[in-house]
Amino acid sequence: MSALPTPRRLENIQTDRGSVPVYATGTVEQPWDSYTEADHAVWRQLYARQQALLPGRACDAFLQAQARMRMPSDRIPKFSDLNEILGAATGWQIVAVEGLLPELDFFTHLANRRFPVSWWIRRPDQIDYIEEPDLFHDLFGHVPLLMDPMFADYLQAYGRGGVKAHGIGPDALMQLARLYWYTVEFGLIRQADGLRIYGAGIVSSKGESIYCLESAAPNRIGFDLERVMRTRYRIDTYQKTYFVIDSFEQLMDATRPDFAPIYARLTGQDTIPADAVLATDTVLQRGNGGA
Ligand code: PHE
Ligand code: FE
Repeated sequence: MSALPTPRRLENIQTDRGSVPVYATGTVEQPWDSYTEADHAVWRQLYARQQALLPGRACDAFLQAQARMRMPSDRIPKFSDLNEILGAATGWQIVAVEGLLPELDFFTHLANRRFPVSWWIRRPDQIDYIEEPDLFHDLFGHVPLLMDPMFADYLQAYGRGGVKAHGIGPDALMQLARLYWYTVEFGLIRQADGLRIYGAGIVSSKGESIYCLESAAPNRIGFDLERVMRTRYRIDTYQKTYFVIDSFEQLMDATRPDFAPIYARLTGQDTIPADAVLATDTVLQRGNGGA
């Protein structure tokens, strides 16, 4: 199934990771044949390590989506194989990119049900931490939930909202970025059997998968849209605060209203430090039932 129009090829670009063909949209072709055995070994190692951690920690929706997607555990998946399964499930497609995209390009991809995935994987010495999103984070962390119809709709709605926010201004974009950070990247969800992870930044990280549920240090606060949109975040440490949703439906409902008046109102208000707890917060207990 090919929901994606073939992008127009511009030229080959030489990056410090090799030469890949680049397309007008900023997408590239996944250079699958040029992955080395060391690249596949990094995937294999990270995949096995996270798989062992996720039962009892990742939410059921993530685990079920992952099982249906059947990414290979022993070698880097081919995006074209995943796209057949993903396209049939929700119409989403993966596109290969060099790395982080300009905001408007990123939002436009999401609004059209295309998820940008870095084509390259981290080096063996970067197994535990990498600053930029690589293939493992993007593919293992983000792509499974695109199989979930509700989450798939949320991410597209987010992309459309991003295009809109881009036209409003930098404050709106910052507020919307916080929503992405505290849901898509670092979101927790409350299941009947305890707190679980759905955020891609957590499920792709060994340390944070454990920390976010089991450490006494971070705050776990019930999701509140405007509270989230005012809360600053740290990109260089585990999160000080996680926001907890009850369901993807709750997230959809909370984010459905027009954000324009919300942006306008919040722009006049102070931001909230990453580690603050407010009198109005619903503070949730630690614990994930199982582990
Ligand atoms: N409702 C938002 C708006 O009007 C769009 C949006 C949906 C943003 C879902 C984020 C998540 O901008
Ligand atoms: Fe990410």
